[in-house]
Amino acid sequence: MKIVLIGYGKMGHEIERIALERGHSIACAIDVNNPELFESDDFRTADLAIEFTSPSTALQNYRRCFAAGLPVVSGTTGWLEHMAEIRQACEQGQTFFYASNFSLGVNLFFVLNKMLAEKMNAFPQYEVKLKEIHHTQKVDSPSGTAVSLAEDILKNLDRKKTWVNYESNKTDELGIVSEREGSVPGYHEVCYESEVDSLKIIHDAKSRAGFALGAVMAAEFTLGKKGMLGMHDLLGF
Ligand SMILES: NC(=O)c1ccc[n+]([C@@H]2O[C@H](COP(=O)([O-])OP(=O)(O)OC[C@H]3O[C@@H](n4cnc5c(N)ncnc54)[C@H](O)[C@@H]3O)[C@@H](O)[C@H]2O)c1
Repeated sequence: MKIVLIGYGKMGHEIERIALERGHSIACAIDVNNPELFESDDFRTADLAIEFTSPSTALQNYRRCFAAGLPVVSGTTGWLEHMAEIRQACEQGQTFFYASNFSLGVNLFFVLNKMLAEKMNAFPQYEVKLKEIHHTQKVDSPSGTAVSLAEDILKNLDRKKTWVNYESNKTDELGIVSEREGSVPGYHEVCYESEVDSLKIIHDAKSRAGFALGAVMAAEFTLGKKGMLGMHDLLGF
């Protein structure tokens, strides 16, 4: 498959490495210094674009790909207020695969998180809190993965009505603590605490390789399909 990379930063480079390893080719790599490549034949004749840029630039990049009829796989976080526009484009024939987190481990973690939240309805003595740690260059806060975890807790744990991005003692609020430190690729922790014990589930990424592999596998899955796709389609859960 001929892949356009949009965003040639930490994730772009890791995706390139894994895509080449899996026998794909890179049609071009577009970053802030070469936007003219959006007008190139390499862009127009590619099979698919993989987009990892920033919250403020992602939507514009999706629009440019859709205008050229190019399917998009994206992992950029922090732009979800525009999701209605993307859904509408998909209903009109575009193809878009989105995941706030492409790693297999995190998607298994999502399953555990939902299950645990649902079970905890019967045990109000446990107070839940969420913590995420990322590298210091991360733009958005809380992380897209933490937002996904929080939304799943709100859907499954009746006593929580809303999430906030600070520590909270209110019974209906879920506090998310975000820390930025060194080069941490991604740490997420859901903790249920009672007076007598605490129960934690943790995902701790060792590198970006898991995210990049998931994005390339999503690209392989997306080729030839139409509409809005996500990790539940790829993994079957
Ligand atoms: N979904 C996941 O699994 C996952 C995993 C890791 C990171 N992320 C997200 O992916 C995004 C990128 O992460 P990163 O670590 O690679 O960041 P990064 O800062 O290392 O790279 C982003 C790159 O995008 C470029 N860029 C910015 N605006 C652009 C534009 N308009 N057109 C083309 N390129 C542009 C930047 O110059 C930079 O090179 C972030 O939103 C991050 O939260 C998602």
